[in-house]
Amino acid sequence: MLQVSSWSYCLDLTTHSGFFSFLLFFSFLGNHRDAWVYGSVDPSSATATMMEVVRSLCELKKKGWQPRRTIIFGSWGSSEFGYMGTNEWIEENYHSLQNKAVAMLNVDISVVYPYNLFVAATPLMKNVLIEAAKQVPAPNKSLGFENLYSHWNLMRRFTTSLIGYGLSSVSDHSGFYQKLGIPAAYFLWMPDPKEWPHVDYPLYHSTYETFEAMKKFLDPEFSFHLAVAHLWALVTIKLSDSLVLPMKIADEADFLEEMYLELTEEHGNFFQDNKMSTVYLKEAIKEFQQRAKHFQSKINDVDQQQELKLRQINDKIIQIEKAYIYSEGLPHRKHMKNVILGTSVLDQYSGWLLPGIRELIFEHKREKDQKKQAEIIEEICTHLTVIVAAINGAALQLID
Ligand SMILES: *[C@@H]1O[C@H](CO)[C@@H](O)[C@H](O)[C@H]1NC(C)=O
Repeated sequence: MLQVSSWSYCLDLTTHSGFFSFLLFFSFLGNHRDAWVYGSVDPSSATATMMEVVRSLCELKKKGWQPRRTIIFGSWGSSEFGYMGTNEWIEENYHSLQNKAVAMLNVDISVVYPYNLFVAATPLMKNVLIEAAKQVPAPNKSLGFENLYSHWNLMRRFTTSLIGYGLSSVSDHSGFYQKLGIPAAYFLWMPDPKEWPHVDYPLYHSTYETFEAMKKFLDPEFSFHLAVAHLWALVTIKLSDSLVLPMKIADEADFLEEMYLELTEEHGNFFQDNKMSTVYLKEAIKEFQQRAKHFQSKINDVDQQQELKLRQINDKIIQIEKAYIYSEGLPHRKHMKNVILGTSVLDQYSGWLLPGIRELIFEHKREKDQKKQAEIIEEICTHLTVIVAAINGAALQLID
């Protein structure tokens, strides 16, 4: 009999940051513990890496380091059959996560193949990932890269961006960004997409995922594991120690604009043919961009001695992506609450931006009945107003 266990081991590096210690922020790292069979790739390559991160941060703590914000490590159970571990933990801790969570750093696998780094994240995580990667030594010196960032950047998987904003629904970060809008990141080493374009790999979930496969063929020196550990730990330290959270509001604004362009490029004709306008969406994004600029200048000018001012700024930053949560959920997938970042209806491994709009357009294109088509158009109009309200809500966070 299979027993459903929720998260089990949780190490809490709690801080004592003086005046504000009664209401601490926290970031957390996680990885799942259950495997389909031997799981040397999925999840044990990441579990081993996380244990190394735990060991290193505890060493730092012994030497006197006090993180400014709490760090929580989660080793989640029952990931492979529905993310019960993370989802139960989210249910138990919903309100404190909503108020205090800074970020979720999930590594499900460290190394599938040591070719290039795949990074999926929400836009607020972009800056801290890049800054951390610049400080990580390149895992294979003979390739001539200066550091992890140059390896990642010069061998990038995505043509337009370093990061894929379409986070999947197939790992433990899904509940965190889909139910709560918590900034999330997910990274691992993947094969050359020109040789192996698929998101899974031949050993995936099979009896061949053995330690021997990892040690003999995939990452014999574990140097790529080490690069993931460095990146994971440095992002954690930056998120835990910076006075102002190392998240750039301009990255969020740029992302929203890219998202809008992508939607209108792909579906502009559809909106036109059905006499729908996306002008309110465009205006909401413009408003966000302006407020983001103003807010950024406030961050730049803040007096770093004034804890209360720093606290106000950080409170606002961590609420930005949480504004994308709509309690009613997507029109036809009520359990997914994030109206900006989500996944495809056809493939849980693939991300979709504006997932509610895309699912309705997809249904409209398959529907033959004209009356039903008209109903779907109504639903799209309604859902567009939900999205506009979400972006306005994010912009309102930035006002004093
Ligand atoms: C490092 O890169 C060189 C050159 O491409 C390659 O021959 C070697 O196998 C790589 N080493 C590791 C550990 O990946």
